[in-house]
Amino acid sequence: MRYENGVVNRDETGRDELGDGDRLPNIRVPPPGPESRRHAEQLARWEAPGINTLNADGVTCVWQSARGANVLDADGNRFIDLTAGFGVAGVGHRHPTVTRAIAAQSAQLLHGLGDAASHPLRAPLARALCRHVPIDDPQVYWAVSGADAIELAIKTSLLATGRHNIAVFDPSYHGMTLGALAASSRPRFRQPSSPHLHSHIRRAPYGCAPDQVEALLEDRTVAAVLVEPTIGREGVRLPPPGWLPALASRCRQFGSLLIVDEIFTGLGRTGKWFDIDHERVTPDLLCCGKALAGGLPIGAVVGSRALMAAWKSPGEARHTATFVAHPLACATALATLEVLEQEQIPARAARMGPLVADRIHPWPERFPSLAAIHGRGLLWGLVTREPAQARQLAHRAYHQGLLMLAGGAEGNVVQLVPPLVITERQLHTALTIIESILENDFDTGDLP
Ligand SMILES: Cc1ncc(COP(=O)(O)O)c(C=O)c1O
Repeated sequence: MRYENGVVNRDETGRDELGDGDRLPNIRVPPPGPESRRHAEQLARWEAPGINTLNADGVTCVWQSARGANVLDADGNRFIDLTAGFGVAGVGHRHPTVTRAIAAQSAQLLHGLGDAASHPLRAPLARALCRHVPIDDPQVYWAVSGADAIELAIKTSLLATGRHNIAVFDPSYHGMTLGALAASSRPRFRQPSSPHLHSHIRRAPYGCAPDQVEALLEDRTVAAVLVEPTIGREGVRLPPPGWLPALASRCRQFGSLLIVDEIFTGLGRTGKWFDIDHERVTPDLLCCGKALAGGLPIGAVVGSRALMAAWKSPGEARHTATFVAHPLACATALATLEVLEQEQIPARAARMGPLVADRIHPWPERFPSLAAIHGRGLLWGLVTREPAQARQLAHRAYHQGLLMLAGGAEGNVVQLVPPLVITERQLHTALTIIESILENDFDTGDLP
């Protein structure tokens, strides 16, 4: 391993260390090790604060390579990834079908002309995605990220209904662009932009009584109800049974559209192709992103042909971006959908869910620091009694070779979001490590 001009060059070791991404943790030096620290110095010099995850001590974990459910850091430490890179690595990091698609596509076309010209992958990709979305006669509008998909869905609802309000739930996370942020709940994220967050947002608590939703919709000014079917980033929370169907029926009653944000939960994460499939809910618009392109950025909104007709107008596209329907991302998205189908990954997540549940559901009884466990499929949240305990659990797990994120609306949830290809052995090992931390090693004295 060499370190030159601020760049760590690891070559032949990466593949060997990670195999097929099915390895157990191997911590060689206490992380973050010297290479990560050196890299952190450069980050602190050249990047603006806030974007580089430097912790209070000015260091960070530097990911050097990743494969399957493993991440190798710049110091050669191998981790099991329980973040899936914010839920992106559904088919695992660097799935060979995905990397082959990148190689093939990069030999042909790297960039196109977005809405002004097309490329051959777009229609097949739209068709492949629509096959799994529970909307009749569907069409796709591409976006460049999750937040962009939310902007697009909101705009579609305004355009299609001629109404001006949007109803959302607390807590929720829909992204950081101004429209998506206006719909998101966390005050810390909203505060810096508050003068520019539009006011046509109505809020109700997630899981509230249907009457409360009715009160938001009854004046018939609400273009759409925007909901995460299962709350993700703000602390994993499942919908009360029957709540999403009730929401869908209230939307129909008052002429509001139902937008489901499946950016985190979609594409197998909770054990179905889409989370709303658990209760056979039919949305008007479905947003996806994250795991769709196997590691490359893309977003998509799916709606019925009749609804999407709202965008019909002569002249230039009214929602687009330079990189929209990027050829490389379309190629990897097609490859990712192929892997999801051929390896039956949503069904795999459904099978793994109960394995996790059986292990972790008894934990709140056994470990005083845990208040609750929420989740299904391969999306789980460990709810601690104090935010400091969540941070400490993630921190200690990191030192034992697990990557996990602590956070949520109250800061007290540790997420378990592995790549959906994680092996049973890896999952078992990860849960054993977490259990042993909760059992033996857990006090809140010396907190990171
Ligand atoms: C449910 C949900 N919606 C939207 C977003 C925003 O996606 P992106 O970060 O790609 O803009 C996220 C990101 O975490 C998310 O979890």
